[in-house]
Amino acid sequence: MTQIVVVGSINIDDIYTAHSLPVVGETVTGARYQQQGGGKGANQAVAAAFDGLPVKMIGMVGPDADGQRQIEELESLGVDCSLVGVGTEPTGRAAVMVGGGDNQIVVASGANHQLSVHTIMRAFDSIDAGVVLVSAEIHDEPLLAALFAARDRGLTTVFNAAPARTFSTQLAKQEFLLVVNEVEAEVVSSNHQITTLGSEGLRIQTPELSTTVPALLAPEVVDTTGAGDAFCGVLAASLAKGMNLETAARRANAAGSAAVRVVGARTWRSVPLPADVAEVLGSTRSVGDGLGPGPQ
Ligand code: ATP
Ligand code: RIB
Repeated sequence: MTQIVVVGSINIDDIYTAHSLPVVGETVTGARYQQQGGGKGANQAVAAAFDGLPVKMIGMVGPDADGQRQIEELESLGVDCSLVGVGTEPTGRAAVMVGGGDNQIVVASGANHQLSVHTIMRAFDSIDAGVVLVSAEIHDEPLLAALFAARDRGLTTVFNAAPARTFSTQLAKQEFLLVVNEVEAEVVSSNHQITTLGSEGLRIQTPELSTTVPALLAPEVVDTTGAGDAFCGVLAASLAKGMNLETAARRANAAGSAAVRVVGARTWRSVPLPADVAEVLGSTRSVGDGLGPGPQ
């Protein structure tokens, strides 16, 4: 079975769910606190693994209990962490504030910023097949090394330029299949591009195809954190399953819609999927099917 290789961040998310987000200088009390696994890379790896494909993660954790816990959690969810390194900085942490259907995130990158070009090149020595998905909570140099290593091996490569930040000129305009939200689309572009549009769905623009796909609207938007990650993981998995870009994007759209219905960036597939989402994802599980929680 074609494997997915995910290059990116691994974090612990400290999630504060409040009735509204604070404005600058404001303190909001009465929030609910939860801690979950996070990091765009790890969230995407879990989404691809939930979709039933073998996934290998390339990233870095710290020499701490958080890092060990993340590796154990990812392995238990079907993500091979044999290419995850241990740095000297702490495991990445994100303060995620959720309120009023929106979020604010501050990330302490820690060990994620210790992922080096050398580690990437060594990791790719053992990779010669699969779909490679790279996101941008790592430095530009290893990010570029991963994209070019994947391209040199002739692998299908997806670049999720998230979160939005200034990219090196080599990354700002490039040829990989690019997935961006509307903010990120202002700083990076490709002629093979999917732009995610939140509750509006997505737009696909390639030389062969230009189309918009509406979102599968969630009855209640609980937490949008990680919707883009669910989208990217399932997009990569669908491409690895041999689907064409539009079909893959439609499945990714369903995953994004599932992700906004629960708190956290990885848990969406651990609860029974609603029927509309399950149908597009081709899952046999849906609300009320009696199969109970837990990833497939
Ligand atoms: P995030 O950074 O919060 O992970 P993002 O900004 O990268 O997300 P979005 O464009 O907000 O990405 O959302 C990604 C995908 O998730 C959308 O293309 C859509 O498929 C789905 N999605 C997002 N918001 C909603 C919503 N309110 N209802 C249904 N689907 C949604
Ligand atoms: O995309 C959501 C992720 O962004 C969170 O899990 C958080 O860790 C940040 O990396």
